[in-house]
Amino acid sequence: MLEINLSGLELKSPIILASGILGVSYSSMKRIFNAGIGAVTSKSIGPNPRKGYKNPSIIELFPGTFLNAVGLGNPGIDNFLSEIKEIKEFNIPMIVSVFGDSANSYLNVATKAEQAGADAIEINISCPHAEVSSIGINKDLTYKVVKTLKDNLKVPVFVKLNPNVTDIGKIALAAEKGGADGVVAINTLGAMVIDINTKRPILAHGSGGLSGKAIHPIAVKKVYDLYQLLKIPIIGCGGIFTWKEVVEFMLAGANAVQIGTALYKGVEIITEINNSLIYYIKNNGYSSISEIIGLAHEYKTQEVPDFE
Ligand SMILES: Cc1cc2nc3c(=O)[nH]c(=O)nc-3n(C[C@H](O)[C@H](O)[C@H](O)COP(=O)(O)O)c2cc1C
Repeated sequence: MLEINLSGLELKSPIILASGILGVSYSSMKRIFNAGIGAVTSKSIGPNPRKGYKNPSIIELFPGTFLNAVGLGNPGIDNFLSEIKEIKEFNIPMIVSVFGDSANSYLNVATKAEQAGADAIEINISCPHAEVSSIGINKDLTYKVVKTLKDNLKVPVFVKLNPNVTDIGKIALAAEKGGADGVVAINTLGAMVIDINTKRPILAHGSGGLSGKAIHPIAVKKVYDLYQLLKIPIIGCGGIFTWKEVVEFMLAGANAVQIGTALYKGVEIITEINNSLIYYIKNNGYSSISEIIGLAHEYKTQEVPDFE
């Protein structure tokens, strides 16, 4: 009932672990696998080991809403290959999120990940507090990176979109033209908080990316708008805490979803979400969750009146 096919990946649930949330270690994977996750995405991995930003690098602004600037700290692809091989044992689709400083360095990281057994690649062109965001705001660079990877890899390639742009549709269309097998909408929103006593930004990096509850309605609109433009699948991401946000994303047009921030409450919520989704599907007379994808578009919204 919850099984979906995402660009050739067979998922037992449409819920995917978002990038950067849990370390992809054997023990955390075991917990999340047992909780019923459909697929996992690794933290974004680059060509070389990289330290993240100093603390404070993450704070909870309102209940369930976080601001972070962890700065893409990661062990580098060569030190990550053994983890990819270890995760393969779980027999669950593994998406490796990659970044680089040129199209060829993205390809280099992605090729090594594919050879180690990654089932799909997610291109991070969108982290708002790192230099890769400059790709995700430029349709030509986005096309170039996506095309370079698609021309050389066999596994599906997803593109994680940057919401910090005037027109996310243009970037998504460039990704589709480059051959992307799907887009993930959205990464965190650029944001800042300032301490009124010390009179300085709270995060060591200054600004960061907003995630969790506050960004959910923004992400829903992005998915809704992208559904009207794209032919490739959309993976909704942003502020999922319960089954209701999953249903909302799918009604807006998502084929699958990613969950991040909410997992600070424990991975058990995945089991709860899966169980409630089955209940919702049955209760509404459907036999598969795929039947609800895009249904919100059947409702004709009021048009903007002509300018007089
Ligand atoms: C602490 C933290 C680290 C993150 N690291 C990454 C990352 O390495 N790569 C990436 O593409 N997204 C990263 N993200 C963004 C999430 O994958 C996700 O797009 C975002 O948090 C919105 O989903 P959520 O509201 O469910 O958390 C990170 C988010 C958080 C909170």
